[in-house]
Amino acid sequence: MAGLYVHIPFCAKKCSYCDFHFSTRFGAYREEMILSIAKEIKQRRGEALNPLSSIYFGGGTPSLLTIEETSLLLKTIEEHYQRNKNIEVTLEVNPEDISKEKLKSWLNLGVNRLSIGLQSFKKEDLKWMNRGHTDKDALSCVSFAREVGFTNISVDLMYGLPGLSQEEWKNHIDLVLDSGITHISAYCLTVEKGTLLSNEIKKGNISVPEDDAIESQYNTLTSQLKNSGFEQYEVSNFAYNKLYSQHNSSYWKGVNYIGVGPSAHSFKEGYRRWNIANNPAYIRSLKMNCPYYEEEFLSQKDLWNELFLTGFRTRWGVLKGKISDLGGFTAEEASLLEGYIKNHKIKDLKEAYVLTDNGFLFADAIAQSFFRVQ
Ligand SMILES: C[S@@+](CC[C@H](N)C(=O)[O-])C[C@H]1O[C@@H](n2cnc3c(N)ncnc32)[C@H](O)[C@@H]1O
Ligand code: SF4
Repeated sequence: MAGLYVHIPFCAKKCSYCDFHFSTRFGAYREEMILSIAKEIKQRRGEALNPLSSIYFGGGTPSLLTIEETSLLLKTIEEHYQRNKNIEVTLEVNPEDISKEKLKSWLNLGVNRLSIGLQSFKKEDLKWMNRGHTDKDALSCVSFAREVGFTNISVDLMYGLPGLSQEEWKNHIDLVLDSGITHISAYCLTVEKGTLLSNEIKKGNISVPEDDAIESQYNTLTSQLKNSGFEQYEVSNFAYNKLYSQHNSSYWKGVNYIGVGPSAHSFKEGYRRWNIANNPAYIRSLKMNCPYYEEEFLSQKDLWNELFLTGFRTRWGVLKGKISDLGGFTAEEASLLEGYIKNHKIKDLKEAYVLTDNGFLFADAIAQSFFRVQ
């Protein structure tokens, strides 16, 4: 198994909360960027030791690409990489970019999974977020996608938003459940440094909810989705009928992936690399055949910390075999584990240690308590 991530570093607008890598002024170098990404795809073909099981166009805003641009990138991949027959091909799309015509073309190109960034159905939220879509777009885009023939549709929702009541949040979940989607990624708003949102909070113009309000929105989310037959297979990800994101599951299970495009990360056992997060410098470096990434070989300590951080976020947990491969627990760690099991935060299964429903709420903190510093 191997995954290929393609980062499209363009956005039409800057959302107030977002610190992903993108530019809103890309008109002058748009074509060069697509050609540079295609060049990187071609150059790195030898890194995929196995046929690809997933391709993921993320961003930024991949749905801003024309059909010709998307097709060029997909054709480059087809020419240079072996692919599994049932490969998952995901495109992240923003609701304002969705039209029946575009949807049909994506389907014809081989895109078989959409991840739609709805975020909220509330007019006021979409306004302070500076989103490019309206509450009406949010309601209609999923049904368009289904009408055209997409059966594997994920939506992104956000909670812990300023002024979002419990009732409104419950209603947002009901709306996505009624729309017939098969996967939900629900993220608690994080205030990232340097964003417009963080400045507004500093100035006192916006405030985020208290921790207990966030906790009760999280509880509403997990119970409502569970009651509707969705499985929480990762802290923020819920799937119906086992329609997990194959691509993201690879990240969490430590499978190799290649990330192309500015800022994209790549991983293979014991090694990770990340591309430069600067669009003109990325294009220039590819043109001149200069290095455009940094890399790191992972120490035993890094591998251990990564194992707990990614494992505890998923339903598959931390595999006992992998713990043994890394030398097993120290006496102190074993007693920490014992404590979590007694407090019903961790379950001791045959092949793995897995967080309980309650433990999931504290996934990152529990994982970090197992971190090694040297
Ligand atoms: C990389 S973004 C790109 C998706 C796409 N461009 C869009 O806007 O819908 C992926 C998802 O991360 C989530 N996200 C981004 N910034 C966030 C933040 N500060 N806090 C919580 N979730 C965030 C949003 O739900 C978003 O849909
Ligand atoms: S949330 Fe999506 S559309 Fe908004 S700035 Fe971030 S990547 Fe771009």
